[in-house]
Amino acid sequence: MYRIREIDGDNEEIAETLSELHRMTFLQAASIPHFDEGHWWLASCESEPVAFAGVVPSAFISNAGYFSRVGVLRAHWGNRLQLRLMRAMEARVRRNGWCSIVSDTTENLSSANNFIRAGYRLFEPERRWAWSNSLYWRKAIG
Ligand SMILES: CC(C)(COP(=O)(O)OP(=O)(O)OC[C@H]1O[C@@H](n2cnc3c(N)ncnc32)[C@H](O)[C@@H]1OP(=O)(O)O)[C@@H](O)C(=O)NCCC(=O)NCCS
Repeated sequence: MYRIREIDGDNEEIAETLSELHRMTFLQAASIPHFDEGHWWLASCESEPVAFAGVVPSAFISNAGYFSRVGVLRAHWGNRLQLRLMRAMEARVRRNGWCSIVSDTTENLSSANNFIRAGYRLFEPERRWAWSNSLYWRKAIG
Protein backbone atom coordinates (compact mmCIF):
# COMPACT_ATOMS: atom_id res chain seq x y z
CA MET A 1 0.00 0.00 0.00
CA TYR A 2 2.89 2.38 0.82
CA ARG A 3 5.99 2.94 -1.26
CA ILE A 4 9.12 4.36 0.35
CA ARG A 5 11.93 5.79 -1.73
CA GLU A 6 14.99 7.92 -1.14
CA ILE A 7 14.60 11.14 -3.06
CA ASP A 8 16.80 14.01 -4.18
CA GLY A 9 16.27 16.98 -1.86
CA ASP A 10 18.25 19.13 -4.34
CA ASN A 11 15.37 18.86 -6.79
CA GLU A 12 13.19 21.97 -6.43
CA GLU A 13 9.88 20.18 -6.96
CA ILE A 14 10.77 17.50 -4.42
CA ALA A 15 11.95 20.12 -1.92
CA GLU A 16 8.56 21.83 -2.31
CA THR A 17 6.74 18.52 -1.64
CA LEU A 18 8.91 17.96 1.45
CA SER A 19 8.23 21.53 2.66
CA GLU A 20 4.50 21.04 2.24
CA LEU A 21 4.58 17.75 4.18
CA HIS A 22 6.71 19.44 6.83
CA ARG A 23 4.19 22.26 7.21
CA MET A 24 1.30 19.80 7.47
CA THR A 25 2.96 17.50 10.02
CA PHE A 26 5.03 19.85 12.19
CA LEU A 27 2.72 22.87 11.82
CA GLN A 28 4.80 25.69 13.36
CA ALA A 29 6.67 23.43 15.80
CA ALA A 30 9.96 23.24 13.88
CA SER A 31 11.77 25.20 11.21
CA ILE A 32 11.82 23.92 7.63
CA PRO A 33 15.13 22.08 7.14
CA HIS A 34 17.56 22.51 4.25
CA PHE A 35 16.46 19.61 2.07
CA ASP A 36 19.60 19.89 -0.04
CA GLU A 37 21.62 18.60 2.95
CA GLY A 38 21.67 14.95 3.99
CA HIS A 39 19.37 12.18 2.76
CA TRP A 40 15.59 12.32 2.46
CA TRP A 41 12.78 9.81 1.93
CA LEU A 42 9.19 10.05 0.85
CA ALA A 43 6.44 7.54 1.58
CA SER A 44 3.60 7.56 -0.95
CA CYS A 45 0.17 6.02 -1.02
CA GLU A 46 -1.26 5.61 -4.51
CA SER A 47 1.46 8.03 -5.66
CA GLU A 48 0.36 10.72 -3.13
CA PRO A 49 3.16 11.76 -0.73
CA VAL A 50 2.02 11.03 2.84
CA ALA A 51 5.19 10.94 4.95
CA PHE A 52 8.83 11.97 4.89
CA ALA A 53 12.04 11.59 6.87
CA GLY A 54 15.59 12.86 6.75
CA VAL A 55 19.06 12.23 8.16
CA VAL A 56 22.01 14.65 8.14
CA PRO A 57 25.56 14.36 9.49
CA SER A 58 25.43 15.03 13.24
CA ALA A 59 26.87 18.41 14.22
CA PHE A 60 27.66 17.11 17.73
CA ILE A 61 28.64 13.44 17.52
CA SER A 62 31.47 12.41 15.23
CA ASN A 63 30.79 9.98 12.41
CA ALA A 64 27.09 9.80 13.26
CA GLY A 65 23.91 10.51 11.36
CA TYR A 66 21.37 12.79 13.01
CA PHE A 67 17.82 11.60 12.30
CA SER A 68 16.51 15.13 11.99
CA ARG A 69 12.87 14.86 10.94
CA VAL A 70 10.02 12.42 10.42
CA GLY A 71 6.44 13.36 9.70
CA VAL A 72 3.35 11.37 8.73
CA LEU A 73 0.07 12.96 7.62
CA ARG A 74 -2.54 12.37 10.31
CA ALA A 75 -4.84 10.34 8.01
CA HIS A 76 -2.00 7.80 7.69
CA TRP A 77 -0.95 7.54 11.34
CA GLY A 78 -0.87 4.08 12.84
CA ASN A 79 0.65 2.30 9.83
CA ARG A 80 4.17 2.25 11.28
CA LEU A 81 5.44 4.59 8.59
CA GLN A 82 7.93 6.18 10.97
CA LEU A 83 9.41 2.74 11.64
CA ARG A 84 9.58 1.90 7.94
CA LEU A 85 11.24 5.23 7.13
CA MET A 86 13.72 4.62 9.95
CA ARG A 87 14.67 1.24 8.46
CA ALA A 88 15.35 2.84 5.06
CA MET A 89 17.36 5.57 6.76
CA GLU A 90 19.38 3.03 8.74
CA ALA A 91 20.39 1.17 5.57
CA ARG A 92 21.67 4.43 4.08
CA VAL A 93 23.63 5.29 7.25
CA ARG A 94 25.24 1.84 7.11
CA ARG A 95 26.19 2.34 3.44
CA ASN A 96 27.66 5.76 4.31
CA GLY A 97 29.93 4.04 6.84
CA TRP A 98 28.67 6.17 9.74
CA CYS A 99 29.02 4.45 13.14
CA SER A 100 25.74 5.45 14.74
CA ILE A 101 22.45 7.29 14.44
CA VAL A 102 21.43 9.84 17.05
CA SER A 103 18.20 11.73 17.49
CA ASP A 104 15.96 13.39 20.07
CA THR A 105 12.28 13.49 20.96
CA THR A 106 10.42 16.07 23.02
CA GLU A 107 7.13 15.12 24.66
CA ASN A 108 6.36 12.70 21.84
CA LEU A 109 5.36 9.24 23.09
CA SER A 110 4.51 7.82 19.63
CA SER A 111 7.88 8.77 18.23
CA ALA A 112 9.75 7.61 21.36
CA ASN A 113 7.98 4.25 21.16
CA ASN A 114 9.13 3.91 17.57
CA PHE A 115 12.72 4.55 18.64
CA ILE A 116 12.31 1.74 21.17
CA ARG A 117 10.79 -0.55 18.50
CA ALA A 118 13.73 0.20 16.20
CA GLY A 119 16.27 -0.75 18.90
CA TYR A 120 17.48 2.69 19.97
CA ARG A 121 18.74 3.34 23.52
CA LEU A 122 18.45 6.49 25.55
CA PHE A 123 21.75 8.29 26.15
CA GLU A 124 23.05 11.52 27.61
CA PRO A 125 25.11 13.50 25.09
CA GLU A 126 28.04 15.61 26.33
CA ARG A 127 26.19 18.64 25.03
CA ARG A 128 22.38 18.62 25.10
CA TRP A 129 21.54 20.15 21.73
CA ALA A 130 17.74 20.15 22.02
CA TRP A 131 15.37 21.27 24.82
CA SER A 132 15.72 20.78 28.57
CA ASN A 133 13.01 18.09 28.53
CA SER A 134 14.22 16.27 25.39
CA LEU A 135 15.17 12.60 25.32
CA TYR A 136 18.28 11.61 23.36
CA TRP A 137 18.38 8.38 21.36
CA ARG A 138 21.27 6.46 19.87
CA LYS A 139 21.74 3.29 17.89
CA ALA A 140 25.10 1.81 16.93
CA ILE A 141 25.31 0.80 13.29
CA GLY A 142 27.55 -2.22 12.81
C1 LIG B 1 5.36 10.70 15.32
C2 LIG B 1 4.76 10.23 13.99
C3 LIG B 1 5.80 10.38 12.89
C4 LIG B 1 4.38 8.75 14.13
O1 LIG B 1 3.66 8.37 12.98
P1 LIG B 1 3.34 6.82 12.60
O2 LIG B 1 4.48 6.19 11.92
O3 LIG B 1 2.05 6.82 11.92
O4 LIG B 1 3.26 6.17 14.04
P2 LIG B 1 2.71 4.74 14.46
O5 LIG B 1 2.26 3.94 13.28
O6 LIG B 1 3.74 4.17 15.35
O7 LIG B 1 1.43 5.14 15.30
C5 LIG B 1 1.60 5.99 16.41
C6 LIG B 1 0.43 5.98 17.32
O8 LIG B 1 -0.65 6.72 16.75
C7 LIG B 1 -1.87 6.05 17.07
N1 LIG B 1 -2.82 6.42 16.04
C8 LIG B 1 -3.13 5.77 14.92
N2 LIG B 1 -4.03 6.45 14.20
C9 LIG B 1 -4.31 7.56 14.91
C10 LIG B 1 -5.17 8.69 14.70
N3 LIG B 1 -5.93 8.79 13.60
N4 LIG B 1 -5.19 9.68 15.63
C11 LIG B 1 -4.43 9.60 16.73
N5 LIG B 1 -3.58 8.56 16.97
C12 LIG B 1 -3.53 7.56 16.08
C13 LIG B 1 -1.50 4.60 17.06
O9 LIG B 1 -2.38 3.89 17.88
C14 LIG B 1 -0.08 4.56 17.59
O10 LIG B 1 -0.04 4.35 18.97
P3 LIG B 1 1.02 3.30 19.60
O11 LIG B 1 2.39 3.92 19.42
O12 LIG B 1 0.62 3.20 21.03
O13 LIG B 1 0.87 2.01 18.82
C15 LIG B 1 3.47 11.06 13.65
O14 LIG B 1 2.62 11.02 14.75
C16 LIG B 1 3.74 12.50 13.23
O15 LIG B 1 4.03 12.77 12.07
N6 LIG B 1 3.63 13.43 14.19
C17 LIG B 1 3.86 14.87 13.88
C18 LIG B 1 5.35 15.16 13.61
C19 LIG B 1 6.24 14.59 14.70
O16 LIG B 1 5.94 14.68 15.87
N7 LIG B 1 7.38 14.01 14.28
C20 LIG B 1 8.35 13.37 15.17
C21 LIG B 1 9.21 14.36 15.85
S1 LIG B 1 10.30 13.50 16.99
